[in-house]
Amino acid sequence: MANRPRLRVAIFGGGMIANVHRRSALLAGAQLVAVLDRSPSDSARLAELWGVDQVYTDADQVLASGIDVLHVCTPNATHAGYAKKALAAGVHVICEKPLAVTSREADQLTELASARGLVAAVPFVYRFHPLVREIRARRMAGSFGPWWLIHGSYLQDWLASPSASNWRVDPAEAGASRAFADIGSHWCDLVEWVAGERIVELVADTATAIPRRPATSGPTFSNSLTSASAPLAEVKTEDIVNMAFRTASGVPGSLTVSQVSPGRKNRLWFELDGATGSAVFDQENPETIWLGQEAESRLLTRDPGHGSPEARRLSALPSGHVQGWAACFESFVADVYATVRGEQVEGLPTFADGARAARIVDAVLKSAQERAWVKVAGSEPGPADPSSQASAGSVPAGAPVRLEVPGSASQSNSQTEGTSVASD
Ligand SMILES: NC(=O)c1ccc[n+]([C@@H]2O[C@H](COP(=O)([O-])OP(=O)(O)OC[C@H]3O[C@@H](n4cnc5c(N)ncnc54)[C@H](O)[C@@H]3O)[C@@H](O)[C@H]2O)c1
Repeated sequence: MANRPRLRVAIFGGGMIANVHRRSALLAGAQLVAVLDRSPSDSARLAELWGVDQVYTDADQVLASGIDVLHVCTPNATHAGYAKKALAAGVHVICEKPLAVTSREADQLTELASARGLVAAVPFVYRFHPLVREIRARRMAGSFGPWWLIHGSYLQDWLASPSASNWRVDPAEAGASRAFADIGSHWCDLVEWVAGERIVELVADTATAIPRRPATSGPTFSNSLTSASAPLAEVKTEDIVNMAFRTASGVPGSLTVSQVSPGRKNRLWFELDGATGSAVFDQENPETIWLGQEAESRLLTRDPGHGSPEARRLSALPSGHVQGWAACFESFVADVYATVRGEQVEGLPTFADGARAARIVDAVLKSAQERAWVKVAGSEPGPADPSSQASAGSVPAGAPVRLEVPGSASQSNSQTEGTSVASD
C-alpha cells in the first residue's frame, strides 16, 4: 500500500445500499471524500454521520473535486443522469441496478464508458458468492454436460403488506418495471453468467397482487411502515412475474419473481439440470450448494482450502464462519477498485451487463402486454455461451485502455475477460 495512493471515492445516496457501499469502500482501503443525498440538509447530516469533512451540495461540485470513483446509490430514475455526468468528468463509476430506466439510456451509458475507457460497473453482486463461482468453474470444466433445463425463483415479502410502500412502487422514480427490474434482473444476470447461456426469447405474465398502496414512501425492505392515514394510490408496477424462456442454445427455462411471498425474505434460488449432473444455489443458504447426480447427490460446503481458484479467492472467512451477501459487496467493490488500478479480475459485472438487463426487462414488459413470446433485443445472432462474446463489457475485450486515475499515474490496461468483460 505504501506506493499506492488511496482511491478517493464519493457516494450519492444515503440509504440502505449506500451504507453497504460505504462499508465495502472503506474495507477496500478507499477514502470517502464526498457524499450527496437528496437535499443540502440531508447531505450535511450524512457527511456528519459518516465523518466526511467537506459538505457538498451538488453533483458537479463533487465531480470537480478530484475523485477517482463515484458510487451511485440513489433511486433508479436518477442513475443515468449521475452516471453520465461522472463519465463525462472522467470519473470511474459504480452505478446501482437498474443501470437506467430505459434500455436506450443504458446503451448510451455503456457506449460512453467504452469511449472514455473508464471502469463502469453494476453491482450484480450475487456473482461474488464463492460457491456460485464453484458451480461456474465446474460448468466450464464440463462437469454437468449440456444443460437440459434451467429454473428458479427470486422471492421477497417486504411488499406483501398492503400498507407497505416505497419509491420503488412509483414508475416515475423506479421505472416501468418494479419486481423484475429490481430483483428478476439479478437472477437473469447470475444464471446467464453461471450457466454460460443467454436468454434469447421469453414469454412473461405479470401481476399486481395489491392494487392500491399508500402514496407516501416507506423505508426499503421494511414491511408496513408507511403512515396508516396516508392516502392510497393505484399501483402501476408489478408485484409478480412468471416467465418461461429459451436460451440461444435452445435450453428451456423458467423464473418466478415476487415481492409479495410471505416468509420469503431474499430467496434467490436456481437449479441447473444437465445431462450428467445438476446444481442448486440458494442465496439465503450460500455456504452450501447441492450437486445432484442420478446415483447419488451431495452438499458441498464452502471451504477456502478446497475448490476452484475463484471460489477460494472469494472465500474471505474460514469454512463454517458464515459468509454471505455483505461479503459479495465487499468483494465486488474491491474488484472494481483493482480494475481501476489496472489489475485484471474475473467476472466483473459492467454497464454492458446493466444494459443487457434493461433489454430483458423491455422484453418482459412487452411480452406481458402482448401476451406473446418475444425476442430479447441484442441477443441474436450470437453464440449460446456469452463466454465467447468478445465485447460483452464496457470496453472491447483485448483493447488497450487508458485508465485515467486522477491523483495517480495513468495506466495502460489490456482489458480482457474479467475486467470489463462480464462473461467467462
Ligand atoms: N445491487 C443490489 O443488490 C441492490 C440492493 C438494494 C438496492 N439496490 C439499488 O440501490 C438503489 C438505492 O436503493 P436503496 O434500497 O438504498 O434505497 P433507499 O431508499 O434506502 O435510499 C435511497 C437514498 O437516495 C437518496 N436520494 C434520493 N434522491 C436523490 C438524489 N436525487 N440525489 C442524491 N440522493 C438521493 C435518498 O435520500 C436515500 O438516502 C436502487 O437503485 C436499488 O435498485 C441494489
